Amino acid sequence: MKRNIGAKTIITPLPVFIIATYDENGVPNAMNAAWGTQCDNDKVFLLLGSHKTTDNLKLKKAFTLAFATPETMRISDYFGLESGRRANKIEKAGVHVHKASKVDAPIIDEYPLTLECEVVEMQEVEGDFRIVGQVVNTVADESILGDGGNIDIGKLRPISYDSSAKAYRVLGDIVGNAFRDGASIKNK
Ligand SMILES: Cc1cc2nc3c(=O)[nH]c(=O)nc-3n(C[C@H](O)[C@H](O)[C@H](O)COP(=O)(O)O)c2cc1C
Repeated sequence: MKRNIGAKTIITPLPVFIIATYDENGVPNAMNAAWGTQCDNDKVFLLLGSHKTTDNLKLKKAFTLAFATPETMRISDYFGLESGRRANKIEKAGVHVHKASKVDAPIIDEYPLTLECEVVEMQEVEGDFRIVGQVVNTVADESILGDGGNIDIGKLRPISYDSSAKAYRVLGDIVGNAFRDGASIKNK
């Protein structure tokens, strides 16, 4: 038996992206963003309110996007609870940063996978920002690479934001083969 439970925008899984930027003085900052996704083979989309991060994005037109993991969960949550307009979150979290090789944005060493992105679109709509970033480089710890040098999501163990329980969950097991397991029905 199914029930109507109202207009609940439950989209799952939501990512836990950590968006890192520099300000005008080269001070690094990081924020937590769940409203984002891939939007082309080589682009990402973010929906951000007005934050220190968006101030920095207007200025530098560059950011890095790291994937939160169980090991980085606590600092990732902190990056979503405090604003870089009020505190130096990088110092307070005690993380280490270095400048990305391809864009003018910091990489936070504690995260095992980071995408380097250039802002190619930044549209303000009613106080929010719709941002498209072009991925120009990917930096991965060797520990999360599988055979052939590809990223092994099972080793990365990205966490997802569960907006229903307001919790973080680890992405689960492989349960099937994409573009293959439906073929038995298609070919029936
Ligand atoms: C789990 C989680 C997800 C969040 N997702 C978003 C998001 O998608 N867009 C957004 O504008 N803010 C989001 N936030 C809030 C920002 O991370 C928060 O306002 C932060 O203080 C902004 O940092 P900044 O001012 O240093 O840029 C999220 C926070 C948490 C904890």
